[in-house]
Amino acid sequence: MVRNKAPTFIPLRRRLLQFAALSTFAMGALHAPSRAQDSGSEPAGPAERIIVSGASGQLGGLVVEELLARGVPAERLILVSRTPEGLQPYAEMGAAVRYGDFTEPLSLPAAYAGGDRMLLISIGRTNLPRPQAQGNAIRAAVEAGVRHIAYTSWVGISHGETEGLSADHAATETILRDSGAAWTMLRNSIYADGVVQDAAAMIAAGRVVVPENADRITYVTREDCAAAAAAVLIAPGHENRAYDITGPAAVGPREIAAAASAVTGAAIDVVAAPASSDAQPFGGPALAAVSSHVEELTGRPATSVRALLEAHREELMAAARR
Ligand SMILES: NC(=O)c1ccc[n+]([C@@H]2O[C@H](COP(=O)([O-])OP(=O)(O)OC[C@H]3O[C@@H](n4cnc5c(N)ncnc54)[C@H](OP(=O)(O)O)[C@@H]3O)[C@@H](O)[C@H]2O)c1
Repeated sequence: MVRNKAPTFIPLRRRLLQFAALSTFAMGALHAPSRAQDSGSEPAGPAERIIVSGASGQLGGLVVEELLARGVPAERLILVSRTPEGLQPYAEMGAAVRYGDFTEPLSLPAAYAGGDRMLLISIGRTNLPRPQAQGNAIRAAVEAGVRHIAYTSWVGISHGETEGLSADHAATETILRDSGAAWTMLRNSIYADGVVQDAAAMIAAGRVVVPENADRITYVTREDCAAAAAAVLIAPGHENRAYDITGPAAVGPREIAAAASAVTGAAIDVVAAPASSDAQPFGGPALAAVSSHVEELTGRPATSVRALLEAHREELMAAARR
């Protein structure tokens, strides 16, 4: 087999910068949205209605599917997006599908009208500071009568982080706590998607170069984040609580390599990086702290890296053949 260049494990700091860059790109690539009217039928009866902001995003879409899978009737859903036209299948099922943009406060009162609970999905970069844009959404929701708002925050907040990503999330949490609505903070750890790519790269190269103090991170799947969010939206008892939404273990490149080998049978040499390499730790204890909240909220264990790689076995086997 021709070996690819051995990947050096990407420090978390660089990975976070990649997230930020991707968010900026996504914003720039947007088309001007059309204002869709409520295109679903209104529900009968007094059942609470649940708003999902950013319903066309990756996490938002999983939350909608999770709510439906848990038996929430589509008529109880109010799905808000800058691109509501992409949510037409849910409108056909009976959901209210509406236009709303946190940076356009005038779009929000009609978007949130009639909602009782809301999942506020954190956004990437916009023309407004993120807490200001997200604050617009919180204020509009409260004025529209929403009584409970769950917010997808950041796990670093639970460990006293105040810089970078944590600053925006902490500021938004403060706005939410002071809003008058009941709140739930869903403090997500790092999404696990990158782990599959890391494993594929290690398999293709047959080795990985690991800094001595590589971060160990409680990667969590978006599916688990979505299941936790759905759980707090559909049952009482989660008001004014903060949850750390993490995977079941803190893993670093050594554990990822071991799981990738176990799943595919591929040999991966783990090579210690020279002391002078890019090996500054960044994640610290915040991203290595395991929480049991996913299992407590959803009734099933959080997805392990091994299970995640099992689910992507075909893709990883293809990497082994490259
Ligand atoms: N934990 C992690 O590792 C990690 C990594 C990356 C991002 N995040 C955060 O988690 C969020 C959800 O992740 P994702 O994977 O679902 O991201 P995504 O697929 O890029 O979705 C971005 C989300 O932000 C919403 N949004 C963006 N600008 C908005 C605006 N001006 N007004 C209202 N909504 C706006 C989008 O809603 P519509 O497009 O439907 O309007 C969509 O729900 C991200 O936005 C980001 O804050 C976390």
